[in-house]
Amino acid sequence: MKLSAEQIAFFKVNGYLLLKGVLDARSCAGAQDRLWAELPESCRLKRDDPATHIGPFSGDDIQDDSLHLRKDFRWQVRSFGTQQWLIDLVYTKDLVEVAEQLLGEGLIEPPVVGGKPMGSEGPAWPGGPVDPAVNQGVRGIYCTLPYGDRPREPDFSHTDGHPMCLGVVGLIDDVPVDGGAFRVWPGSHRRLYPTCQMQYDQPRIPYYEHLPSHKGIVHTPEYLRELETIMADTPSVDCWGGQGDVILWHHRLAHMAGHNYSQVIRQAVLHDFNRKDLDKLRLDPPQADMWRDWSSEVRSNNTGYSVEFAREQRLPTA
Ligand SMILES: [Fe+2]
Repeated sequence: MKLSAEQIAFFKVNGYLLLKGVLDARSCAGAQDRLWAELPESCRLKRDDPATHIGPFSGDDIQDDSLHLRKDFRWQVRSFGTQQWLIDLVYTKDLVEVAEQLLGEGLIEPPVVGGKPMGSEGPAWPGGPVDPAVNQGVRGIYCTLPYGDRPREPDFSHTDGHPMCLGVVGLIDDVPVDGGAFRVWPGSHRRLYPTCQMQYDQPRIPYYEHLPSHKGIVHTPEYLRELETIMADTPSVDCWGGQGDVILWHHRLAHMAGHNYSQVIRQAVLHDFNRKDLDKLRLDPPQADMWRDWSSEVRSNNTGYSVEFAREQRLPTA
């Protein structure tokens, strides 16, 4: 599988790329079976009864475990992130080819079957998120339960605070419009990349309950201002799609999981493709050429894309 020059051009300008039908349908169905098998018998959620799928989790169904989280509207299973079957779902010949085309041939860090899954060491700081960098495989299967009759709420974007190169969201079931598939702010990667102190990381500071001004991560004022401006001036894109569709995203792209106003559970597999030499690359501050660490094919691409292609990618301005 090879990306066209137009697809690469779109990714460079907008920081995301929608790809149709990349994941194997039978493997997606198998992943759903494994997901549901993780639920205890006693759980209120029943696979064959969609009425029970409406969130939030309540009572004994709540589980605040970083390897298998069920809390509010989030259901995130990370414990099987280094099992062969889940690695096989994402680390496919096709997707690895695409990742190599973008990041460089032979430069992708391979996953470790049986290695340490994300969430093994709990949250990054007390009450904080789980660190996706502590992970030798796939991030896991991330679900968002339908919101039911909960009132609509504003979107709020972020960038990920751990060192990574290329994000992947793979839909393992159909996700309708407004179903919380993945929401992105096109072009935000080019605006946020230069505002960070480090090229890949976001610097961390100890978290103290009695000194709550800094909560784990320290952002530059430039970053915080730019993120606010992006949310005000950039229409976001809802990356809904069918089973097997994949969203690729740049590590500095503003995004969110998306609110789920549909009637079905959003089920997606999340993965990061990283360069093997990320530990060396992460020493550097943002570069004048933000594509320095990408393939020569990406760096030299300035072909542009058609209005029709941008519409297929749901770019609001197209
Ligand atoms: Fe994120």
